[in-house]
Amino acid sequence: MSVIIEEKFIILNTKNTTYQMAVNENNYLAHLYYGARLDDSVALERGKLNYHSGATLAYDGKSRELSPDVCPLEYSAYGSGDFRTTPLKARFADGSSVCDLRFESAKLLNKKPVLRGLPALHDEGKVSQTVEVCLKDKIYDLRVYLLYTVFEEQDVISRSVRVENHTGEEIILESVLSACLDNYEDEYDFISFTGRPHFERFLQRTSLGDFRLVTESRRGASGHQANPFVIFCSRGCDEKAGECYGASLVYSGNFTASLEKTQIGTSRFVMGINPENFAFILKNGEVFQAPEVIHSYSRSGFSKLSHNYHNVIRQHLFRGKYALAERPILINNWEATYFNFTAEKLLAIAKQAQKIGADTFVLDDGWFKGRNGDASSLGDWFVDEEKLGCKLSDLISDVNALGMRFGLWFEPECVSENSDLYRAHPEWVLNAPSRPGMLGRKQWVLDMANGDVVDAIFGMMSDILDNNNIEYVKWDFNRYLTDVYSTALPANRQGEAHHRYVLGVYDLLERITTRYPNLLIEGCASGGGRFDCGMLYYSPQYWTSDNTDPMNRLDIQYGTSFCYPVISMGAHVTASPNHVTRRDTPIKTRSNVAMAGTYGFELDLTTLSDDEITTLAEETRFYKNHSELIRLGDYYRITKNDGRYIGWQFVSKDKKTSLAVLVQKITNINYKPIIQKFEGLIPDMQYRVTVDGECREQLYSGTALMEIGIGIRTIKYEADSTRVEIEAVN
Ligand code: GLA
Repeated sequence: MSVIIEEKFIILNTKNTTYQMAVNENNYLAHLYYGARLDDSVALERGKLNYHSGATLAYDGKSRELSPDVCPLEYSAYGSGDFRTTPLKARFADGSSVCDLRFESAKLLNKKPVLRGLPALHDEGKVSQTVEVCLKDKIYDLRVYLLYTVFEEQDVISRSVRVENHTGEEIILESVLSACLDNYEDEYDFISFTGRPHFERFLQRTSLGDFRLVTESRRGASGHQANPFVIFCSRGCDEKAGECYGASLVYSGNFTASLEKTQIGTSRFVMGINPENFAFILKNGEVFQAPEVIHSYSRSGFSKLSHNYHNVIRQHLFRGKYALAERPILINNWEATYFNFTAEKLLAIAKQAQKIGADTFVLDDGWFKGRNGDASSLGDWFVDEEKLGCKLSDLISDVNALGMRFGLWFEPECVSENSDLYRAHPEWVLNAPSRPGMLGRKQWVLDMANGDVVDAIFGMMSDILDNNNIEYVKWDFNRYLTDVYSTALPANRQGEAHHRYVLGVYDLLERITTRYPNLLIEGCASGGGRFDCGMLYYSPQYWTSDNTDPMNRLDIQYGTSFCYPVISMGAHVTASPNHVTRRDTPIKTRSNVAMAGTYGFELDLTTLSDDEITTLAEETRFYKNHSELIRLGDYYRITKNDGRYIGWQFVSKDKKTSLAVLVQKITNINYKPIIQKFEGLIPDMQYRVTVDGECREQLYSGTALMEIGIGIRTIKYEADSTRVEIEAVN
């Protein structure tokens, strides 16, 4: 049984993990345990922490042993004795923000509920089990429903929170975080994925001391600077050993995640919508649904934790035709032409792309009315036939005649100041009254909290999509939110604008994905500025970074891989020298790095030599032969990312086929040669090993490959790369 509800206990079991909670004698819902699978023991000891330390602790009723400040709790509210970061803060009609949540009821639901307006893990196959726990304020009828869904196979437990106001009056929610995890231990490292545009998701690891560690966004989008995925782990935890907890928020706006050490040597983790500039009014009878957090636990290091996330994202977050299917091999014209193109030039690139095996041509920014630079036209989604020199449908027919699909770029959430849309509706942008407001990349952010705006953009996009054979959309978003004020909301509801913006974006995405079920959407936000599980629900691939230099991509894709599967990472072979860094890299390395992603091209193929075209055609063939392994296999980081060389490996689910790639990060002279070990193979199986097309005579056992490794002499200088194919011999 994956869920057991007994009188006082709730136990959730996945294949390898157990989560336990209990109602204690003061009716708090105490957290008991989250860790390796337990069969019948209940961690009761932990629910009753008794660290009464004199007069400073508040406690309830007679039991001085059960102060809410030291008790490990599943969820708690501000104002009644829990001085840690409390996930809920509600302001009642009488002005007080004191709230005291106690257990009310728990039940098993027959299916995972849909979280209204929000992306979340889905479960069409009905393999999960969901328990709903109700907590209630002691005085006012404010109900907090905690939902826990168990995905047994993937070792995942997802959580979300729904607040219902039955107080009879209006209340203001000032914080509704989605998860709270109180652990008995405090000796943790906190791992977050931070960065900046062009350098997204760099792994940061910090030891928890006597303080609270926070990673968060206040930019209106999850952002380049932080990512709504974090890990906390035992101090020595590495890829193969140690215990680690992951948390991924299925949300694309402001978020916070923090880990704090308590005075008594326990710890609290919380995650959810960032409470800053959040104040949501709930009338009597109304409901607020907070987004979902995907939790997973591994006692055998990061590798297993990543597999759990990759599996659950592929199987229960991605939707639609492309969820698990082979993805198109794109040729995108952005780095080939930027804004400077005609249909003739685009077609010339498409013809070369067809020769190298690309199957989808993507027309990036610049195809709509007067858009010849980034200073105008966003919001006027009408084809610029004068610039193209033909109708869009003619260009698409020509591309289709090459046997290729056609894709198009949109930036639906923004509008240029110099646009007909802005001139007609200046009130449709986020901007506070009487203020000049701030432009970003010369554009405003549209007020997606306003249903009329969403309708108008949907109308323009569907006009293009209805009348043209478009099978892919790149959905871009190139600035953050400032001046967050919605003219669609009254003054006292402006604290809802940030969240309602995100809901508006999701609404538009939902309407587009429903109307065009065969459309593949690739998300993008100045590169990977909104790479999160919220966006991946609608767009199962995301442009990982505008930094396409393979040497920088090594770090970016490394950090991204901790949560997100390779098949979600948009990655293209681009020109050398690279447009961002001016660095020269060999074509094979550019290709090898793009293969740890969706694979595609973004360069002016008309300028390549015949030899280069032949090489890229061979590379595409190689990728196609391995695309299922890359897309659906288990992904291992087989080296540390410590600056010398880096490697990763794909292993098929039956463990019989594998592909590894190693890239030299700095020149390796006068240092020991590489003897690389591999992962995930069958110990007593014999394997044939091929390095860069050269098959080794000797066969290796799985044990030899995993415990001894093989000598690699094919990489030595910076940006060299090599491929190791491993195939079981029957
Ligand atoms: C952003 C994207 C790029 C490209 C440009 C177009 O920067 O990240 O890939 O689409 O916009 O303006």
